[in-house]
Amino acid sequence: MARGPVDDAKRRAALDDELAFWSREAALDGRFATEILRRLDPTNRPGEHPAFAVPDVVAWAVRRTSVARPRVVDLGSGPLSVLAAAHEHGAVDVTAVDPLADDYARLIDERGWDYPVVPTAGSGETLADVVGRDAVSVVYCRNALDHAASPRRCLEQIRDALRPGGLFLVEGVAFEGTHQNHEGLHGFDLFVASGALRCRDADDDVDIDVDGLVPFVTVPDASAPDATEPEWFWAAYHKPPATVDATYAPELRALAVAMRDAVTGR
Ligand SMILES: C[S@@+](CC[C@H](N)C(=O)[O-])C[C@H]1O[C@@H](n2cnc3c(N)ncnc32)[C@H](O)[C@@H]1O
Repeated sequence: MARGPVDDAKRRAALDDELAFWSREAALDGRFATEILRRLDPTNRPGEHPAFAVPDVVAWAVRRTSVARPRVVDLGSGPLSVLAAAHEHGAVDVTAVDPLADDYARLIDERGWDYPVVPTAGSGETLADVVGRDAVSVVYCRNALDHAASPRRCLEQIRDALRPGGLFLVEGVAFEGTHQNHEGLHGFDLFVASGALRCRDADDDVDIDVDGLVPFVTVPDASAPDATEPEWFWAAYHKPPATVDATYAPELRALAVAMRDAVTGR
């Protein structure tokens, strides 16, 4: 029997803990006060962007999902989306989605913060219902997929929400479920092994391979499932269109190289 947050009452209690964590951080009373202050400062905000090669991702999304200004979802954004500067400066249109969005909106209001992106209520498991099907060019998810009740259901919904040619970019702390003793919202370990993003609950592998969402970058190349030191993972997926021209595969390979170089700092 999995020890994750399996029933509604446990999950509500775990979300309350998550909100308490963010309330402390918002009061600059937590571990991440420096990051919070950087996100709040418009000058420093671009430095909070993910390491994924952002200009290459935007160029891909414009070309391959046929939109002038790609719509990007920050899934499980927390109160202060790290994509806010890209939204503010017009490169992309960011929709932040989080189950605690209403609480976060209250937190932002209480603090009197003026932040360019305010989260919308929703979860990975209901994403396509919240943002529409074939509706967004990129779904980005940082340190949140392993907080979900069902990572697999999230991937299915992410696929459905993406436009053909769209990208799913995911990163986070590997083996966080184990590090947190599978308590609270930490029901799962996510990690990279043999070139694939893998998921485990407290007892078993969880199959998160979904048809129509294809991984094309994972970093690191190999990580130890029993690693005890915090390690960061990155993975990128694409939603292949029904038909592709001859440049699709070489462009995807070039994007993979740019992303790998960006996240490994090469
Ligand atoms: C550790 S925070 C990460 C916030 C932000 N992405 C960051 O890196 O600063 C995890 C977030 O995932 C959200 N979350 C929990 N369950 C979720 C689900 N089923 N779908 C999407 N997000 C979820 C939590 O409410 C929380 O805001």
